[in-house]
Amino acid sequence: MAERVVKVAVTGAAGQIGYSLLFRLASGEVFGRETSVHLSLLELPAAIKAAEGTAMELEDCGFPTLGKINISDSAETAFDGINWALFVGSKPRGPGMERNDLIRDNGPIFVSQGKALSRAAKDVRIVTVGNPCNTNALIAQHNCRDVPATHFSAMTMLDENRAKAQLAKKAGCNVGDVNIAIWGNHSSTMFPDFENGTISGKKITDVVKERSWLETDFMKTVQQRGAAIIAARGKSSAASAASACIDHMWRLMHPTPAGKYFSCAVPSDGNSYGVPAGLIFSFPCRSHGNGNYEIVKDLKISDYAKKKIDETTQELLAEREVVKELLIR
Ligand code: NAD
Ligand code: LMR
Repeated sequence: MAERVVKVAVTGAAGQIGYSLLFRLASGEVFGRETSVHLSLLELPAAIKAAEGTAMELEDCGFPTLGKINISDSAETAFDGINWALFVGSKPRGPGMERNDLIRDNGPIFVSQGKALSRAAKDVRIVTVGNPCNTNALIAQHNCRDVPATHFSAMTMLDENRAKAQLAKKAGCNVGDVNIAIWGNHSSTMFPDFENGTISGKKITDVVKERSWLETDFMKTVQQRGAAIIAARGKSSAASAASACIDHMWRLMHPTPAGKYFSCAVPSDGNSYGVPAGLIFSFPCRSHGNGNYEIVKDLKISDYAKKKIDETTQELLAEREVVKELLIR
């Protein structure tokens, strides 16, 4: 019998990512065997039936860690008393689009859901997956002033996992040996920081000595991986996105081992690497466990890295400008 209860809301629960994510949450992977996971599924009215089907399958898995399942098309109902809000529900991009082409369609979702969250939950951590996820997280956070800003995050863990996989292939090592963080926006301007990262404790640049590969093929593969998947599948990434969301939550829940960090887009404190305060920006972070983290300070930033960080900062500032009306309470 589980001793603890954690309540997790998943928006867009009947979508592609929802279908992978919910089963892994219910299985106890993030919160452990002693915690009962109550799931709250938020969907549009037209997708409630599909969400009910997913709930039947969740029950049929017989997970001992699965508690209650609620299904609703009301954000306030779905968010009542939750500990985690996973903001997935939103439109994905199609071929030839950039993620920020979705701002005008998806941005307003995060106004109403941010407001609903403010009314319905206080002790809550938020992971924004729906694109453009950094700016959507910013919108939700501005509309949810009763929850501390530091509880809001956006997901760049998928980019980190992609970077690790590419480096592990190149170096002939296990992905678990690679430590690398993503800076900035979950977009084609993100910077996978191969200058500070390590492979088995050695600098990546000492293991992969081909700098031109790191600056071109590696960077481009990571930055464009989402588009490559859309081109191949005809749909955006789903199982890998759900897996990254599990990793993101797990990293926040467990203290980060010495010498390691992970990628998480969080509100800039204004004292880190010249990134303007408040922007939801992916930094190398370390977790203290239970959702509390700090931005890693004092990493050495070369002129090359500074240029990349500036570029992704400028893009986020431009996105913020586009949604500025949505940020007014
Ligand atoms: P999908 O179209 O399969 O599912 C989206 C679901 O959201 C649908 O079931 C839809 O009914 C629901 N939805 C739409 N508006 C809603 C609202 N206002 N409230 C509740 N539910 C709503 O899409 P998907 O493949 O699951 O992707 C979801 C989002 O995640 C997209 O924006 C996609 O671009 C993004 N994504 C982000 C990352 C990342 O790394 N950050 C990775 C993959 C996908
Ligand atoms: C991804 O990185 O796979 C997602 O953000 C989906 C997309 O539009 O690329």
